[in-house]
Amino acid sequence: TALQVPLRGLVRLLLLLVCVMPWTEAGKVLVVPLEGSHWLSMKDVVRQLHARGHQAVVLAPEVSFYLKGEDFFTLKTYTFPYTQEESAKMFIFETKNALQRMSGIFTALRKFLAGYEQSCVKMLRDNSLMNHLNSSSFDVVLTDPVFPCGAVLAKYLRIPTVFFLRAMPCGLDFEAAQCPSPSSYIPHFFTTYSDHMSFPQRVKNMLHILGWKFICHFIFTPYASIASELFQRDLSVVDILSHASVWLFRADFVLEYPRPIMPNMVFIGGINCISRKPLSQ
Ligand SMILES: *[C@@H]1O[C@H](CO)[C@@H](O)[C@H](O)[C@H]1NC(C)=O
Repeated sequence: TALQVPLRGLVRLLLLLVCVMPWTEAGKVLVVPLEGSHWLSMKDVVRQLHARGHQAVVLAPEVSFYLKGEDFFTLKTYTFPYTQEESAKMFIFETKNALQRMSGIFTALRKFLAGYEQSCVKMLRDNSLMNHLNSSSFDVVLTDPVFPCGAVLAKYLRIPTVFFLRAMPCGLDFEAAQCPSPSSYIPHFFTTYSDHMSFPQRVKNMLHILGWKFICHFIFTPYASIASELFQRDLSVVDILSHASVWLFRADFVLEYPRPIMPNMVFIGGINCISRKPLSQ
């Protein structure tokens, strides 16, 4: 209680200051999300930004399942090579054979990823859209780096970038931010190991990492090519990701394990609990 009185005074003083000072804090945010569940938690952030007086423009493909216009942001769309129906059909498999299903999923995923790459190239080559975005003078880009097109765009427009993500596969996030990440002590995401691994576990961890490197090469190399062409020099995905100002991770060490991070990496795992339900008995 001894502390409470000065604290209350301080809060009142701050409130008074906020009321008298002109409101100059509002900024312009360009949001480049990834469709699907990734967008759901980002949407809450955009809603909150709007509530605090900031202006948000969300840049999204014209075909999408979750991303719809809302009254708390301006939606700008870019072309996508498949229609809504075609996209939906891609992930419906009638066969019951597990192997055929796997190959079906793989083919669909490849087609879908190719669609995203194509629309990224088209967006970056759309001069009227680029001029419009460039002249809108955004203060910051908020993007999910799992769809690296947003990071490429931010670099192109020279706008500071905030990444909002659960994690990048293959430790690309930690590589881009230059965090120490020795594979003997840092278990791979899907291994469920801790930082105390036995020798066989360490070997398995290495194999996991190598296997995923192959998958990541397949997923992300197209964006390195897109960026290399755009900037007329050789760029890797790590180069594209390394210019982030802040990394906001929807994760928490409670769910994972402690590991070295950089000062611009912030853990905001609690954001996943905005839409929560009480535990069952
Ligand atoms: C954005 O506008 C500035 C100033 O007009 C210009 O120098 C720059 O080249 C433009 N960038 C792009 C990507 O169009």
